[in-house]
Amino acid sequence: IVVKHLEPFRLSLEKLKVVSTRLRKDMIRGLGKHTHHRAAVKMLPTFVRATPDGTEKGDFLALDLGGTNFRVLHVRVMEEEQKMVKMDSQLCAIPQEIMLGTGEQLFDHIAACLSEFLDSQNLKGQTLPMGFTFSFPCEQKEIDKSILIRWTKGFNCSGVEGEDVVKLLKEAIHRRGDYDISSVAMVNDTVGTMMSCGYRDQTCEIGMIIGTGTNACYMEEMKNVKRVEGEDGQMCINTEWGGFGDDGSLEDILTEFDKVVDRTSINPGVHTFEKMISGMYLGEIVRLVLMKLTEKKLLFKGEVSEALRTKETFETKFISMIEDGLENAKKILTELGLTWDLVDARVVRLVCETISSRSARLCAAALATIVDRIRVNRGLPHLKTTVGVDGTVYKKHPNDELQKAMHFLTPDCKIKFLVSEDGSGKGAAMVTAVAHSLSKHPHCMMVPPLCFTVRND
Ligand code: GLC
Repeated sequence: IVVKHLEPFRLSLEKLKVVSTRLRKDMIRGLGKHTHHRAAVKMLPTFVRATPDGTEKGDFLALDLGGTNFRVLHVRVMEEEQKMVKMDSQLCAIPQEIMLGTGEQLFDHIAACLSEFLDSQNLKGQTLPMGFTFSFPCEQKEIDKSILIRWTKGFNCSGVEGEDVVKLLKEAIHRRGDYDISSVAMVNDTVGTMMSCGYRDQTCEIGMIIGTGTNACYMEEMKNVKRVEGEDGQMCINTEWGGFGDDGSLEDILTEFDKVVDRTSINPGVHTFEKMISGMYLGEIVRLVLMKLTEKKLLFKGEVSEALRTKETFETKFISMIEDGLENAKKILTELGLTWDLVDARVVRLVCETISSRSARLCAAALATIVDRIRVNRGLPHLKTTVGVDGTVYKKHPNDELQKAMHFLTPDCKIKFLVSEDGSGKGAAMVTAVAHSLSKHPHCMMVPPLCFTVRND
């Protein structure tokens, strides 16, 4: 009977094919000049036109905002060793009040953190190129102009949607008046991940995140990017695949639990696909399933504990812990104030496996769509490519499910997964480095001359 309740989460490989075909159509819609306004999958141009060639070098400042922390890093890229080294960094927590407060408060907080770091590193008089990894959907007009379309994950600061993030950062810095910056290369975390992996492995042309949120980017042919002038070369596209299904296209695979998660989130109706896959939501899906099974008297003798009844008490990290072994399951169930027996522990483990395997399979369907698109774009019968990956959900879970499904969905492609080491931080430096070397290239007028300075006023 338990199995019957879990059935809606089990997606056959055939179903994944159907999902992949839908995403393929949505991606085309997102790229189109006249169709992108209404597209659920936004396919955002990033103005990143090349992956690293290994000759990049220099010192960079990188800012990183996308989760519960803001970070500033000083990164050195060393050509001789093809290595990026984090010289120093500072982390500032973003408390819940700020995540849900005003944009002004958020950017003042960021500017203060940056100021502190520049002071501590004695960098306030120097001119360092700066990259900003801002992991939310942004409409980029240029590499240094980036308008937030909408908040995702846990953020909901007022007065930022529809505004240029660079402008808001600069205004906050002006309000302080103790230092100034002139320009910032804006980067999504998927792009940072692709670029940081791309420095090590020049065949890397896809970046994927499965963490708090989920998303991917890849190198698309310019001639298909109808919204940006020019036909030659390539541009990295931030797919924002988290929004897949926001137009109702995934209705047939949404379970009653997914619908509750969406309804009770701070952004109902937004990022449907992400809510079935990423770390911010997986634990809550499991909790809702456990609640239901308990109400049906299939678990814990029908007794729900206070903790289990409370939203978001079942953390996503519990899922991988429980998948690791029954002993962990027992410990966690006790901590949640539940009275369990061995059968209960096994059922809970089955629930966790089911939810995390659905997440992996859906990711595989989406990634397969991208890989196959690159193959078709190049007119190749077979494609060998590398995907840079980051995010706790990817790192903490066994990935055989994802790879098995990929194998079935893209038999013509050979895919290598490269786990990024701090792509969000170092990747911003790499994007800035590549933008700089392109803008210095005498024949390349594609990227406007970029000049980033940090000066003392
Ligand atoms: C959310 C954001 C996206 C980001 C992803 C992973 O989906 O909208 O921009 O890349 O989370 O952090």
